[in-house]
Amino acid sequence: MGSTSPESLVPGRVLISEGELATRVGELGASITADYADRAPLLVGVLKGAFMFMSDLARAVDLPVEFDFMAVSSYGHSTRSSGVVRIVKDLDLDLADRDVILVEDIIDSGLTLGYLRKILMSRNPASLEVCALLVRDSDDYDEATLRYVGFRVPDDFLVGYGLDVAERFRNLTEIRVLDQAAEPTEDAGPGS
Ligand code: IMP
Ligand code: MG
Repeated sequence: MGSTSPESLVPGRVLISEGELATRVGELGASITADYADRAPLLVGVLKGAFMFMSDLARAVDLPVEFDFMAVSSYGHSTRSSGVVRIVKDLDLDLADRDVILVEDIIDSGLTLGYLRKILMSRNPASLEVCALLVRDSDDYDEATLRYVGFRVPDDFLVGYGLDVAERFRNLTEIRVLDQAAEPTEDAGPGS
């Protein structure tokens, strides 16, 4: 997408509707409630993409959950993670002996998650599980490491419900496939 301006990117067809999101998030919350009975899990949200999912998920969990947030930024190409992750905002709480649930918006290559998992494990939580709203439907990631998964999604760039492109479209209530608006691009060769 090298020469594409943010203005030419528009949300396209709905992949996951608001209703489908609400139903699935409710199911994930019920699973967490059952799995963590009598415990007070610490939800760790990865900013910014997970903020909306985490807020709905937490309200679907009937336990005394606590919250913390981390912000990371990955270097490199704007729409693909490079695997080199920088902590922009660290956690406030101590993870020692806590039951931590890492809440992520989307697992693509899994590189960001692998890095975060290493950092969090080094802080000696009692347990660490991952709850990802979306997981890319590809072979290059071992999904066995994900305890809770909302939806498997195709290899399209997605926006809405927290997910952005260039910081836009996070407030869409559903998840949509990103489209290119029809406009002349540099990719069109001479005479074509
Ligand atoms: P990974 O390290 O390749 O797994 O990339 C994960 C991160 O890349 C996610 O947490 C998102 O911030 C971002 N990302 C990957 N795919 C998408 C997408 O389709 N839309 C918006 N952000 C995405
Ligand atoms: Mg993210």
